[in-house]
Amino acid sequence: MSDKVKIFDTTLRDGEQSAGVAFTPEDKLEIARQLERLGVDVIEAGFPCTSKGDLHAVQLISREVRGASICALARAVARDIDIAWEGVREAEAPRLHVFINASDIQMAHQLRKGRREVLEQTEAMVRHAAGYTSDVEFSPMDATRSDPEFLHAIIERAIAAGATTINVPDSVGYALPEESAAMFAGIRERVPNIDQAVLSAHCHDDLGLAVANSLAAISAGVRQVEVAINGIGERAGNTSLEEVVMAIATRGQDMGVHTGVRTPELYRTAKLVERLSGMDIQPNKAIVGRNAFRHGSGIHQDGILKLRQTWEIMDPADIGVPGGTQLVMGKLSGRHAFREHLRGLGHALEGDKLDRAFTAFKALADRKVAVDDRDLEAIAAEHGQTAGH
Ligand code: KIV
Ligand code: ZN
Repeated sequence: MSDKVKIFDTTLRDGEQSAGVAFTPEDKLEIARQLERLGVDVIEAGFPCTSKGDLHAVQLISREVRGASICALARAVARDIDIAWEGVREAEAPRLHVFINASDIQMAHQLRKGRREVLEQTEAMVRHAAGYTSDVEFSPMDATRSDPEFLHAIIERAIAAGATTINVPDSVGYALPEESAAMFAGIRERVPNIDQAVLSAHCHDDLGLAVANSLAAISAGVRQVEVAINGIGERAGNTSLEEVVMAIATRGQDMGVHTGVRTPELYRTAKLVERLSGMDIQPNKAIVGRNAFRHGSGIHQDGILKLRQTWEIMDPADIGVPGGTQLVMGKLSGRHAFREHLRGLGHALEGDKLDRAFTAFKALADRKVAVDDRDLEAIAAEHGQTAGH
């Protein structure tokens, strides 16, 4: 039996908090429509109290997008919650997401409030949100640096006040995977009413551990993960949606979980967010980077030509990668890949002709990082004969 892990996409909220990124309401709607095609469960459309434009974007998405819950973020402050509700009230399935600082350092120095006051504010504001909708998410911010007993107390209070999803953020990307798993196991063990809520993880990538921490959380019983396309977000970003989803698609049987994401839409979604955010995808980015299914080494290319799965654990078609698996012709390429590549270009070289062409190719590849098809055409013309001649 496999459990479903809900995918909560925050590209349009936490993703937009990336320095230098600002989506227009039309950009947000275009991305939300693509997220709908992708099949995410929840779209966090924005933080409506921050600007009239963001409120407008959240309203637009709430009216136009179907099939996913539409969520708006609010501080644990009545005015924020009221505006957030204005944003999502017309959605098919509206969600309010209320958060408050929960670590001693943030309560003392940012919020300037004590633990008791924070507990009381949490209870009152979650109740306020629950007056609007039965779908209320609560996040104790900076949870991984908070005191565990206080964390358990604030979660218990939020659930008693009406929260139906408890999202536990590693807001500063500080946790290690084993700590993430232990924190969630502790919450499940020590919060008496935890079964009344869905437990969620929200990880940041300051130490490059957001995906590992999210997967560790899932192994400890979490059934919602908060993610962003291409991992964009505040500072080093959020957990990358495509990485978690493909980890589950590839290894989920071993983890006993699945998602409802239509993975062939992943690449298109990543490229759309790359274009509208202006944040380039690094070439070696897992799943959607330019090199994710390109092979450079001769040994690997030879293996791929014999059986693709010798060097690929995922099928690029399952991610919607155009062009699929690619063998890049360069100085590491072997004779087998060279011959097959020439064949693909219509040049069937064998014997001496192939030997001479391969020698010329290697000499060129020593001077040039990637030998392109025009180079190969020239080599074939000089040393060989075209197919059919
Ligand atoms: O990182 C964080 O703590 C957040 C919360 C608002 C959920 O983004
Ligand atoms: Zn965050």
